[in-house]
Amino acid sequence: MLPDNELDWVDEVLSTARSVRRKLDFDRAIERGVLLDCIDVAVQAPTGIPEESWRFVVVDDLRQKKAIAEQYHEQLVNVLKSRDLPMKPTHKALVDRLHEIPAMIFVCVDGEPNEDSIGSHVAYYGSVLPAAWSLMLALRARGIGATWTTLLSACQPQIREILGMPRGTIQTIMLPVGYTKGAVLKRAQRRPAEQVTFWNTWGTLKQRSLK
Ligand SMILES: Cc1cc2nc3c(=O)[nH]c(=O)nc-3n(C[C@H](O)[C@H](O)[C@H](O)COP(=O)(O)O)c2cc1C
Repeated sequence: MLPDNELDWVDEVLSTARSVRRKLDFDRAIERGVLLDCIDVAVQAPTGIPEESWRFVVVDDLRQKKAIAEQYHEQLVNVLKSRDLPMKPTHKALVDRLHEIPAMIFVCVDGEPNEDSIGSHVAYYGSVLPAAWSLMLALRARGIGATWTTLLSACQPQIREILGMPRGTIQTIMLPVGYTKGAVLKRAQRRPAEQVTFWNTWGTLKQRSLK
């Protein structure tokens, strides 16, 4: 068990890995070694079968970033249009400067789901998304902000071409990353554990103080 002061730090990192779209230092490159350190943490996540099918594609090349930013913009506009939603200023801020982001990290899978069943999809994405979240936390702990984005997963062929990905590989989430600049990251407003935790049977809630 960690001592209380270290536990507080761990909980703080886990609870404050918020999306950072605006308050990023777009002019400060992230050392490749730092990104590799974070990926080394990420690959300690649980993984299923086949093991270690995760692959990470880090993009810091301007030409590729521009091409990816174009795809992202197109996807965002399409999604908002289809849902009849306005573009939030925070989303606009990211999309406007996405090509300037110091790096984009794609969390990919070498392989495709075997079959179209819930179990297969749970195992497939469940073998890579824990690593993606660990990556976001490792970045957060080093003062690097990110946003969990999935918009580009809808355009596999286009991104596959930009990244030179072979057939039979999938990209899942993309983290646009940069050192934070003036960002104050706080806990989100969420329902407390007692309201979302059932004991033994679905729907059975208990107060924290009751045994
Ligand atoms: C499954 C999933 C997909 C998401 N996709 C995007 C995305 O494509 N672009 C984006 O800007 N944010 C995306 N987000 C980030 C959410 O919009 C973000 O979590 C939300 O802004 C709430 O902010 P918070 O995480 O700091 O509480 C996604 C989040 C999740 C969980």
